[in-house]
Amino acid sequence: MAMAMSTVSGLVVAAMAVLGCGLMAAQVADARAFFVFGDSLVDNGNNNYLATTARADSPPYGIDSPSGRPSGRFSNGRNIPDFISESLGSEPTLPYLSPELTGEKLLVGANFASAGIGILNDTGVQFVNIIRMYQQFRYFEQYQARLAAQIGPARAQQLVNQALVLITVGGNDFVNNYYLVPFSARSRQYALPDYVNYLISEYKKLLQRLYDLGARRVLVTGTGPLGCVPAELAMRGAGNGQCAIELQRAAALFNPQLTQLIGEMNAELGEGVFTAANTRMMTNDFISNPAAYGFTDSKVACCGQGPYNGLGLCTPASNLCPNRDVNVFWDAFHPSERANSFIVQQILNGSPDVISPMNLSTILAMDNNRS
Ligand SMILES: *[C@@H]1O[C@H](CO)[C@@H](O)[C@H](O)[C@H]1NC(C)=O
Ligand SMILES: *[C@@H]1O[C@H](CO)[C@@H](O)[C@H](O)[C@H]1NC(C)=O
Repeated sequence: MAMAMSTVSGLVVAAMAVLGCGLMAAQVADARAFFVFGDSLVDNGNNNYLATTARADSPPYGIDSPSGRPSGRFSNGRNIPDFISESLGSEPTLPYLSPELTGEKLLVGANFASAGIGILNDTGVQFVNIIRMYQQFRYFEQYQARLAAQIGPARAQQLVNQALVLITVGGNDFVNNYYLVPFSARSRQYALPDYVNYLISEYKKLLQRLYDLGARRVLVTGTGPLGCVPAELAMRGAGNGQCAIELQRAAALFNPQLTQLIGEMNAELGEGVFTAANTRMMTNDFISNPAAYGFTDSKVACCGQGPYNGLGLCTPASNLCPNRDVNVFWDAFHPSERANSFIVQQILNGSPDVISPMNLSTILAMDNNRS
């Protein structure tokens, strides 16, 4: 009898183990993992764990999120990765440095982005302790080792290969490097078109590294309309609300070359590995025609001070607009939650002039049919 009991319970344990594995496998197959790399536009809070001034850790950041509290996102609510996670049917990605990123949470993916970084190692030096691109990739390797220890190397590899990856970087190489101070080292070294060529050649190395680390579905965003953000209207604009010409020129040089690079890399590595999202065109739309999207303002930040609320940081002492849904910009550099939702709408459903070679809904539908 005692024997029988233990056999039964042994069977139950075995059945539970099989069930447990089955559940784990189903989760790996169902929820597609999501990995995020880049700068403050996509940082979900890594910098809160670092000694740096590039942090969104004080109110009113996060004022329109469910908790109403700052989370490290440079937004009043959700950011671009959050809306992409929603479209995948997943919970938001945790910052890689979060202690909560363990166990089952690893299957959701991870966010490695860090505010202040750029394509170049010397971008954002003034922020001291931030996670530069090559360090983000080292953390991605570390993550993969932890994942493999949990679900086995073969399934870990599959999860990474099937994941969606987002990389958003480049804006800081202009605003926090080339144009940071007059006569910056980089601007003395390079004329703007040569600097852009250099950035593109370094970006190619980053994308190749992502591919080598197993990424096979990578959304690559260009830079936004750099000269039209409230900070640049305040510091460099002509004062009449016109976008700063030099930074617009930078974005106009950078974005088409990035799209071209992606075409070349896809021809080499496989069609559809990289997808170019032209965020400049996406955001230009609601900057030039805010009313069409229900915005009443596309120049003044909701949170900040000085002309266009574009000077200094967004802090509890800053001006704060009463309705964040009617402004394109939340702070001096970053879109509002509602603007982020429109950007992701375009990533999902846009035509080839804003997202090429195909939009995210097409990619997701293709991959779902395949599996
Ligand atoms: C940036 O730093 C990484 C190592 O941290 C190095 O491998 C890479 O070559 C550096 N890039 C440049 C352009 O110096
Ligand atoms: C993009 O996505 C939508 C699905 O939401 C699709 O109907 C549309 O044809 C796609 N656009 C292009 C131009 O590929």
